[in-house]
Amino acid sequence: MNTSSSAQTLILALFAGATLSSSSCAQPKGGPGMPAEAREQIHALFDAHDKINRDLKLTAEGYTALTESDDPKVAAALKKHVKQMQARLGEGLSVRRWDPAFAEYCDHYAEMDHQFTPTDKGVRMTVKGRTANAVKIAQNHAKVVSAFAAHGWSEHDKKHDTVTR
Ligand code: HEM
Repeated sequence: MNTSSSAQTLILALFAGATLSSSSCAQPKGGPGMPAEAREQIHALFDAHDKINRDLKLTAEGYTALTESDDPKVAAALKKHVKQMQARLGEGLSVRRWDPAFAEYCDHYAEMDHQFTPTDKGVRMTVKGRTANAVKIAQNHAKVVSAFAAHGWSEHDKKHDTVTR
């Protein structure tokens, strides 16, 4: 191998390493976009945000949140949404990659334990971070969900700050 081809090999190796390590998600760019079915629930939740009650409690290890609605359709949308998002993130796919807080959440998702319990009127989520950063990131995400529930569509296009970078 001459000098220039070994230099090329080195550059290619560095590039491949940088691409793979840019995210803990299986797909560096976040994979395929949100399927229509998942988008539908998200839009239904934004539309109905004023029918949603959310009680968020931060804990030393993360948070607990109870999010409910007296409207059975909204309660069903909440349950479906959380299942869809858990499946998507569990597969290493990302969501809202353009929003720094979500990109950071996706990158650290595997460092959190999520305990999801459906309730009669919605969902209860308890999240524990296994690292100090994961605790802060989980709490930050929970606050963004609270802002979605409080403000609806006006919050949708906003970027949210990260907590570790
Ligand atoms: C673009 C919009 C949205 C995206 C991309 C999104 C994404 C996510 C993600 C990634 C999770 C984490 C799933 C997991 O914990 O495994 C989640 C959880 C959750 N989302 Fe959404 N979401 C959006 C909008 C909303 C809206 C509008 C509401 C309600 C008004 C909502 C309510 C919830 C609730 C209650 C949880 C469970 C976690 C918790 O209670 O803190 N989301 N969402």
